[in-house]
Amino acid sequence: MRTSAVVLLSLAAACVRTAPRGASSLKEAFAGDFRIGAALNPAQFTGRDTAGAAIVRSQFNTITPENVLKWESVHPRPGVYDFAAPDRYVAFGQANEMRIIGHTLVWHNQTPRWVFQDSDGRPASRDTLLARMRDHIHMVVGRYRDKIFGWDVVNEAVDEDGSLRRSPWSAIIGPDFIEKAYSYAREADPGAELYYNDYSLENAPKRNGAVALIRKLQSEGIHIAAVGLQGHYKLDWPSVAQLDTTIDAFAALGVKVNITELDVDVLPPVTRGPAAEVTAQGTSRAGSNPYFAGLPDSVQRKLAQRYADLFQEFMRHRDVIDRVTFWGVGDGDSWLNNWPVRGRTSYPLLFDRQHRPKPAFDAVMRVVRQPRKQ
Ligand code: GLA
Repeated sequence: MRTSAVVLLSLAAACVRTAPRGASSLKEAFAGDFRIGAALNPAQFTGRDTAGAAIVRSQFNTITPENVLKWESVHPRPGVYDFAAPDRYVAFGQANEMRIIGHTLVWHNQTPRWVFQDSDGRPASRDTLLARMRDHIHMVVGRYRDKIFGWDVVNEAVDEDGSLRRSPWSAIIGPDFIEKAYSYAREADPGAELYYNDYSLENAPKRNGAVALIRKLQSEGIHIAAVGLQGHYKLDWPSVAQLDTTIDAFAALGVKVNITELDVDVLPPVTRGPAAEVTAQGTSRAGSNPYFAGLPDSVQRKLAQRYADLFQEFMRHRDVIDRVTFWGVGDGDSWLNNWPVRGRTSYPLLFDRQHRPKPAFDAVMRVVRQPRKQ
């Protein structure tokens, strides 16, 4: 063999990475590429779920709170803040030297009705709602200043057709509720990264709307560190090509792209609505919970292949991806067991109900280093 061919071959071999030698965890396998995270429930961050907490410590280096920093949990009544659970969440992250994410400040779901009402139950005025938003953001972000690394400031403000979603925030304040949220967050913690987070941005109309939104914010001098693609995926949606276009579209704006709520739903669809609208309700019918007794090998293999394809794509974009966070730890913890119909048996994550790694875990660990996207 000619020397140049030998050199080329050994260069190629050096670029190919099965799990790096000795890597037994996701965080080690992708060290230097991006962080790997999980959304945590209280049982995990208090250690009550000992097996779950052990997986979190060994596998992940960034965490997101599944619910405890949402408005309804942390600020349930006017003037009443409850920091007991989020304090434990942050302490867990600090004790384990993890990158701690805050989720989420301004969203239309899991926000109590009083936030949007005056004392007579009529819609609050713009000024009242802005004052409440500012107070909330200052209290919550201020408390964890220099501890929480970055915040999902606005969650899900864009509709499927790319227009601004009609929500109590946009209806009462107007479209500039978004700018206001980011400037309050910036005041409250000048050092924190601020993110925009949404689902189904892989679909062109919604993505175009989000691109326009980020551009507008940038033109107003607001610094968005990253766009979060929630990543509530299916076996057949989005295509790798859609994902590729989406990551490129946001990277072209000079922002990072994080995968913030990754899971892959293998169950049959029971709604016709958009992928991850938490208020969607499906109709249970014969066949809608097909794997209650276990996941057939054929589907297990499809899931593993899907995860391998996704991580290969993430690796191609590792220059712009800072973190890939799963929405849960083991299959038993996932919201997809109860959404959009209650009581199904779902298999969307890399660890099973006994916290054992699934074939999808092995597939992700074997993902080879892809050439960087030029
Ligand atoms: C959205 C939210 C998350 C979570 C998921 C599903 O994606 O951003 O906080 O509620 O829905 O549970």
